[in-house]
Amino acid sequence: MDKPIKRIAVYTSGGDAPGMNAALRAVVRTAYYHDLHVYGVFRGYEGMIDGKLERLERRDVGNIIHRGGTILKTARSKRFRTAEGRKLAYESLLAFDIDACIAIGGNGTFMGAKLLSEEYQIPIIGIPGTIDNDLYGTDYTIGFDTAINTAVEAVDRIRDTADSHNRLFFVEVMGRHSGFIALNTGIGSGAGSVMVPEVDTSIDQLVEKLKKGYKRKKLFSVVIVAEGNKHGGATEIAQQVKEKFDFYDTKVTIIGHLQRGGAPSCFDRVLASRLGFAAVEGLLKGERNVMTGIQNNEISYTPLSDAITKEKNLQEDLVRMAEILAM
Ligand code: F6P
Repeated sequence: MDKPIKRIAVYTSGGDAPGMNAALRAVVRTAYYHDLHVYGVFRGYEGMIDGKLERLERRDVGNIIHRGGTILKTARSKRFRTAEGRKLAYESLLAFDIDACIAIGGNGTFMGAKLLSEEYQIPIIGIPGTIDNDLYGTDYTIGFDTAINTAVEAVDRIRDTADSHNRLFFVEVMGRHSGFIALNTGIGSGAGSVMVPEVDTSIDQLVEKLKKGYKRKKLFSVVIVAEGNKHGGATEIAQQVKEKFDFYDTKVTIIGHLQRGGAPSCFDRVLASRLGFAAVEGLLKGERNVMTGIQNNEISYTPLSDAITKEKNLQEDLVRMAEILAM
C-alpha cells in the first residue's frame, strides 16, 4: 500500500515553454486545496541533485500565470543521466520527506522521471511542457500554441518584405525532430511550402513547386523549414535550392528562441491549468508514473513509458490540406 501523499516536489526541466508557470500555479493551488505541501525544485534535475528545494506557498505563485519562462528555472542535466546523480537527487527528496513528484517538461524530462520512479519507487506524474508538441498521449503540449502564434506573427512580417522585394524566404522554426510547429506555422501563415522531418520532400520536388509558382507569376514565396528536416536547416536548404533555381533573390530567417519566450496564450494558460490541476488530483486518485494530457478535449493519463517511446504522428490530413491550399 502506497504511503499517503502529503508533500509533493514540483520541477520544470528541459527547454522552457510559455505556460510552465501557469501549470506550476495550478499544481500549488490544487495541492493546497487538498492540504498538501508543495516544494519547488529549482533548475530541474540539476537542482534536485544539489538539494535546491524550497517550500512554495500560495502567494509564491501569484501574478505568474501571464509570464513566460519558469520561475523555478530549468536546466539540462548530464549528471542526472548517471546512477550516482539520480541517487543524490533521491537523497535530496528524502531529506525533504517528499512523497511524490510532478515533472513539467518534455521527452527528456520524462525519461529521467521514469528512471527515478523505477529506481526509487517514488510516484511521479508528468505534465507535457514543451513547445515541440511531440509527445504521445496528448493532443497539445504546453507552450505549443504560444510558439506557433509567435512564429506565425514573425512570418507575417517576413511576407511584407518578401512581397515588397519579390524575394524567396526560407524561415526556420524549432521543433527538434518533429514538424508540428512548422506545419501549423505554414498553414497559419499561408506559406508556399513546408519542409518537415516526417514528410520526405526532396529538394528537386521543392524546386519544382517553386518553379510552378514562378510561372504562375508568384512574385515572392515563403518556405517554412523545420529545424530537424533531413536536408538541413533553412540555410542549407536555401543553398541547395539556389544551386538549381536562382530566379528569386533568396533570404533566410531563423526565428530561434523567440519561439520559446513571451506571454503564454490564453489557450496555453487554460491547458496548463487543466493539466496542473489533473496532475495533483490524479496523484490523490492513485495515478502513478503517467503523463497528464488532453485528448479530444478530455483529460487523460498515459503511462510515462508510452509517452516516451510511442511516436506521435504528424496529422496526414493537415499535410495534404497544406499542400493543396498552398498551390
Ligand atoms: O525542445 C524545445 C526546443 O526549443 C527545441 O525545439 C529546440 O531544438 C531545443 O529546445 C533547443 O534547445 P536549447 O534551448 O537547449 O538550445
